[in-house]
Amino acid sequence: MAPTRPLFAANWKMHKDPVETREFLDAFLTRHGARDGATVVFFPPAISLQAFGESVAGRADVEFGVQDVHEETHGAHTGAISASMAPATGATWGLAGHSERRTEFGDDDATVGAKLSRLFEAGLQPILCVGETLEEREAGRLEEVLRRQVTGALDSIGAARREDLVYAYEPVWAIGTGRTATPADAAEAHAIARRCIADSTNEQDAANAILLYGGSVKPSNIDDLLAAEGVDGVLVGGASLEPASFAAICAGEG
Ligand code: PGA
Repeated sequence: MAPTRPLFAANWKMHKDPVETREFLDAFLTRHGARDGATVVFFPPAISLQAFGESVAGRADVEFGVQDVHEETHGAHTGAISASMAPATGATWGLAGHSERRTEFGDDDATVGAKLSRLFEAGLQPILCVGETLEEREAGRLEEVLRRQVTGALDSIGAARREDLVYAYEPVWAIGTGRTATPADAAEAHAIARRCIADSTNEQDAANAILLYGGSVKPSNIDDLLAAEGVDGVLVGGASLEPASFAAICAGEG
């Protein structure tokens, strides 16, 4: 099903084993009532995908996906998982290019592009994450960095698929720091990112693209961020680990 706005995505990173996943969902699903028309997607760690799928079976209002996949389809890659393994758990989404993957694991733009291709081939809905470091922002390189990340990834995927991509703008300096971009910062960066997307696709696809903001999103700032021009939803890390806090973000009870 095509994703709808607003889109609320929860990136659990390296948190929640299968038991904690079930406990979270027991608490979350009873509270969960998102804003009208919203899409809600979780990214649990790979080891918890099966438990997640079992816990949300029959709930069309909660979707989930993989945080990362290997850039190849299969093979001798100890510790890695392939995109094609994810659908058997019920997963329908996949992240690529998260800044933690780029910095900790060395994912470059070509690797991110290859991962997007594997996600599409497996029938998963990819989210391409982009964003600048504080150093890059202060050096006035915001547009250059976003352009390189968008173009670098989109160049490796077929033109026909580009219109289906979902994007997340996550300034690295706002991730896990408590320092959120202001709604004006987010609107400005989203306008730049959308221009870069338009240059790699076309005006229409860029205007239609779902573009999320991520970085220290919480119940107290969700409404202001969602009201910012060009912000179609959010990608939430820390504040998605507590059922009440993520339910409040999805429901707009900040
Ligand atoms: P944060 O993480 O909400 O904890 O800042 C966001 C992300 O990395 O996706």
